[in-house]
Amino acid sequence: MRVIIEPTYERMSQWAADYVAKRIIDAKPTAEKPFVLGCPTGSSPLGLYKALIKKYEAGELSFENVVTFNMDEYVHLPEEHPESYHSFMWKNFFSQIDIKPENVHILNGNAADLQQECEAYEKAIEAAGGIDLFMGGVGPDGHLAFNEPGSSLASKTRIKTLTTDTIIANSRFFDYDMNLVPKQALTVGIGTVMAAKEVLLVCNGHHKARALQHIVDGEVSHKWTASMLQMHPHSIVVCDEAACDELTVGTYKYYLDKERGNL
Ligand code: GLP
Repeated sequence: MRVIIEPTYERMSQWAADYVAKRIIDAKPTAEKPFVLGCPTGSSPLGLYKALIKKYEAGELSFENVVTFNMDEYVHLPEEHPESYHSFMWKNFFSQIDIKPENVHILNGNAADLQQECEAYEKAIEAAGGIDLFMGGVGPDGHLAFNEPGSSLASKTRIKTLTTDTIIANSRFFDYDMNLVPKQALTVGIGTVMAAKEVLLVCNGHHKARALQHIVDGEVSHKWTASMLQMHPHSIVVCDEAACDELTVGTYKYYLDKERGNL
């Protein structure tokens, strides 16, 4: 696992955007061989999306031959609801770049058969040739997508019931009313993310310090599902200083030194 420590949220977002853009550009994607990008929602990746949009506007990057698969979506929240992940993605990213709508994949939390929707999603990822780079955020309890604590570390796309912690955390998007937060979601599994060729997580803020400590300094555990990325051959966690508050001094210094080329 590579850990990048940047001083601020803005610098973290820029580092992540530079990395993602380089990967897309270097792949020289075509309509026949597109670049397959996994996308998260949440407040953490907003800066990363903004920086990618800037690159597109500057003519440095095109999404014409990029295919996306989103991580998750609430169950039984109408697509047009402002807090659905469909709305989030179109508002904050897709409507501002040159992506083709037919290249966007987001789980349908209103499908008649949710189980079948999840199975079809896995097949669609496979048909696209697998995910080249899965971007992600992390919940304060270390969850990745909606793989709540206790999720199987081998899981594939499926229905998950949200924990009280997550419902409380996400109630900020629903007028702080827990009753308005959907209780279930469709989510890619940890196994789905692990199958991507590369994974890049952004993790910022003091409220994520405990999660980062478990992901970077802890052991692989289903209690902190993002810790599974320790087992991925190409995973990167990009964080800001505030998220490092619970790392040991040794770990913190090690990763700073490593990226300075001192080791
Ligand atoms: C939700 C999403 C996750 C996201 C997490 C953290 O639970 N399903 O993908 O990483 O929230 O969100 P935020 O970045 O707003 O802290």
